[in-house]
Amino acid sequence: MNDIRPIRKAVFPVAGLGTRFLPATKVMPKEMLPINDRPLIQHVFEEAREAGIEEFIFVTGRYKEMLEEHFDFQPELEQTLEARGKTDMLQKVRDSEIPAGRLFLTRQPRPLGLGHAVWCAKKLVGDEPFAVLLPDDIIQNPTGCLQQMIETYNEKGGNVVAVKNIAREDTGKYGILDIDKDDGHTVSVKGLVEKPEPAKAPSTLSIIGRYILQPEVFEYLDAFETGAGNEIQLTDAMARLLGRQQFHGLRFDGNHFDCGSRLGFIEANIAYGLADLDIGADVEKIVRGHAGNFE
Ligand code: G1P
Repeated sequence: MNDIRPIRKAVFPVAGLGTRFLPATKVMPKEMLPINDRPLIQHVFEEAREAGIEEFIFVTGRYKEMLEEHFDFQPELEQTLEARGKTDMLQKVRDSEIPAGRLFLTRQPRPLGLGHAVWCAKKLVGDEPFAVLLPDDIIQNPTGCLQQMIETYNEKGGNVVAVKNIAREDTGKYGILDIDKDDGHTVSVKGLVEKPEPAKAPSTLSIIGRYILQPEVFEYLDAFETGAGNEIQLTDAMARLLGRQQFHGLRFDGNHFDCGSRLGFIEANIAYGLADLDIGADVEKIVRGHAGNFE
C-alpha cells in the first residue's frame, strides 16, 4: 500500500530573470506580467489554492519584492474602492490576498537551476510531499491542473508530473518521459531525461511545470550535481528517485500556454480574453477583425 499523505504545501520558483521579455522585465518581475486581469503568479496561486494548498512557498531572488506585495493586504486601496462603492473590484483585490501565516519566502541567491531553486525550499517543505508550480506554465481549465494531479496522486500515491505531447523537434526544451505503461490518461514512468536532443529522446511526452513530489527528492538535490545546461536539474533528482519510488505522468485536461515565451504569452492573453464574461464577445470581434486583415 502507498502511504498517501495530503499535499498541503506548494513551492513557486520565482527567481528567474525573464530575459525573453526584456525590456518589459527590466524592473518588473516576469511573474507580474498579466494574463487578462491578473498576473501569472496569481493564476498559479489560485490554481494551488483551489487544489487545497495551505502553505505557499515562494523561492524569490533579487528585485522580486513586488511579488510578496501583490499578495499583501492593501488598506488604502481597499478603503478607496469601498468609499467609491466598487464592490466587484474590492472583491477581486481581497481575493488576491494570502492570509496571515500562509506565505513563506526563501531566496535563491544564484540562478543555479530549477533543482537548486526547489532545494532552497527544503527547510520550509520539511518531511512531507509537496507540489511545485512553475508560473511560466498556465493551464486554462475549469478544474485546475494541480487539482487533477491530486486526484491521480490520491489514487496512485508516489510522485506525479503533468505531461503533454510535443513535437519531436522540441524535446530539447523540456524534461522528457521514458514510458512504461500508458492507459491514455496516466502513464507510469521508467525514466526521465532533461532536455534531450530529438534523436535521443525516449518519447515526445514532456513535463509541464506542475509536480507532486515526495520529500526524498531532496536527498538527491542535496548532491548539487549539474546536468543539462550546466544547471542543477529537478528532472535529474527525480530520475534518481525513480529507482525507489513510483512516478506517474498525467495527461491533464485543459489548454496549456507556455508563458515563458512571448508567443505563448500572447496566445494565453487571447484565450483568457475570449473566455472573459465581460469582454469576451468584444475580444472575439477584435480578433476576427485582425484575422480579416490577413485574409
Ligand atoms: C523546466 C524543467 C523541464 C520542464 C519545463 C516545463 O524547464 O527543467 O523539465 O519540462 O520546466 O516548463 P525550463 O522551462 O525552466 O527550462
